[in-house]
Amino acid sequence: MLRKKLIAGNWKMNGLVREGTELAAAVAAGVKSESLNDKCDFLVCPPFTLLSIVGEALKGSGVALGAQDAHFAEKGAHTGDVSPVMLKDIGCSYVILGHSERRADHGETSALVAKKAAAAYKSGLKAVICIGETLAEREAGKTLDVCVAQIEESVPAEADADNTVVAYEPVWAIGTGKTPTPADVEEVHAAVRNALAQKLGQDIADKIRILYGGSVKPGNAKDFLSLADVDGALIGGASLKAEDFLNIARAVC
Ligand code: PGA
Repeated sequence: MLRKKLIAGNWKMNGLVREGTELAAAVAAGVKSESLNDKCDFLVCPPFTLLSIVGEALKGSGVALGAQDAHFAEKGAHTGDVSPVMLKDIGCSYVILGHSERRADHGETSALVAKKAAAAYKSGLKAVICIGETLAEREAGKTLDVCVAQIEESVPAEADADNTVVAYEPVWAIGTGKTPTPADVEEVHAAVRNALAQKLGQDIADKIRILYGGSVKPGNAKDFLSLADVDGALIGGASLKAEDFLNIARAVC
């Protein structure tokens, strides 16, 4: 298989210790008992406060642990930030970078995302680099231009299929229940892969996984994940219920 699908949960700013532990344990048990990771890779990205206990709950299940952001520095005077070295130390293998909520809420630019991704690689973390257009950009017919520019600027030159996953998440589809059509998604994914080929070479671009994210649910997962250039999903709301998350996986793995 050229690209093993990745089913990734982004819990965002949700979960206290008890529910986070239970959710992680239920996901781990489902993936393990049904050997779902024979066909798909799995990733769970809880908030920083739950990384440690979720990491414990996931041990031995084949579900990877990831964080939702990281600073680019290894340590130092950056109040409130967490470094990639710290994330690696606590058992993370992935970090989500450049999610549209970070771009919108914290003014993160693509240049900053690229800097963070390069730092993540140095610490041995894989980066899930997020891109996607706003509704205004889509309505203005700029979707492909925006996504291609975000790839050019957010993906470091050192990116390869081992250290990088790209997630295409139309901003207007996140948490709204609205989605693009499968044809629209495939069009963007193909353009993203082409942009990756321009930047990194065709060989690497052919191997990098490009996830779709934005209102993925058990009922629509197959529509997106059966597309040629869609190599998995980044799931927000539906990753907060173990059965929904597992049912997405069952539909495609
Ligand atoms: P959603 O979020 O599945 O709740 O739309 C996806 C994401 O933001 O990663």
